[in-house]
Amino acid sequence: MQEKLDQIKLDALAALEGIDNKETLDAWQVKYLGRSSTIMDVFKSLGTLSQEEKPLVGKAANLVKIALETASGDKENQIKQQRISQALVSEKIDITLPGRRAVSGGLHPTTQTLREIYRVFGDMGFQISLSREVETDQYNFQMLNFPPYHPARDMQDTFFLRSDEDRGDDPLMLRTHTSPGQIHAMLEHTRIYPDNPPPMRIILPGMCYRYEQITARSEIQFNQVEGLAVGKGITFGDLKGTLINFARRMFGQDANTRFRASHFPFTEPSAEMDVSCFLCGGNGCSVCKGAGWLEILGCGMVHPTVLKNGGFDPEVYSGFAFGMGPERITMMRHHIEDIRYFWANDLRFLEQF
Ligand code: DAH
Repeated sequence: MQEKLDQIKLDALAALEGIDNKETLDAWQVKYLGRSSTIMDVFKSLGTLSQEEKPLVGKAANLVKIALETASGDKENQIKQQRISQALVSEKIDITLPGRRAVSGGLHPTTQTLREIYRVFGDMGFQISLSREVETDQYNFQMLNFPPYHPARDMQDTFFLRSDEDRGDDPLMLRTHTSPGQIHAMLEHTRIYPDNPPPMRIILPGMCYRYEQITARSEIQFNQVEGLAVGKGITFGDLKGTLINFARRMFGQDANTRFRASHFPFTEPSAEMDVSCFLCGGNGCSVCKGAGWLEILGCGMVHPTVLKNGGFDPEVYSGFAFGMGPERITMMRHHIEDIRYFWANDLRFLEQF
């Protein structure tokens, strides 16, 4: 029996010798250590041996099995090591190659304009305030002095959040302009300072939504920057001084401005401010459509009713407000002819800024 066991061991080790990969090693393990291997047959036959032989053969067979297992483990390690050294040679990384430059993103052109606007008004003491994008009819229109059926509502076609039947008395909508932020901000201010409120100067940037046909000049979603200053003795002169300074910082010290009378329900008097066309200097070109002027923003003195709705006494307080579209300003500055580019996510456009 000992001879047979020695032979089993010799055969197995000889077969193991030439093996140099995992697959043949697996096959070897099945053949020499598996359930129907010759060494396992020896274990299975132990029951037929005499009481004296049994422990002797069992022990000898066990030694053979352990020797085979050890040899197979060593072989497995050897194969692994071989694979690693091969990989080290074949997958060598050339660390002397110059690295690939990471593509760095940039700020969206509207964001760049917004940040410039923040800087200019920040320097003039305005704080940035944010207001909600979902509004009620009350705030978006009524408290800004647009009663129901006021014709000025027609200029701001609205996305309502509920169907006609479910709208109720105070419909929810996506804000059509940033002006309702004026009411929220004034109410918060006068809530904090119920008596003798100190002056406030804020800008309110943010997204607005109108149910409009998308064309080269109008989008259903766009930014606005609203401005509001309220205090004692604020005049139209303050409005003009602030906005002329803004125009010069934004468009260059040579920028000329003019104010045209206009109408907004929440300001009285109301105006629109134009800036001289920076492309042609006012002579007339394709950007200004021959006018020499570009319309930049709407503005006016806060209507007494609006001041009252914000918690201010219009007999004591006055204020001015303005609203502008940063996409429109960006279009003018960069000679962009189609507002749809701003949301198209086309890198060929975005990478230019
Ligand atoms: N809310 C106006 C609009 O969307 C813009 C505007 C005009 C805002 C005059 C103002 C303002 O604060 O005084 O058309």
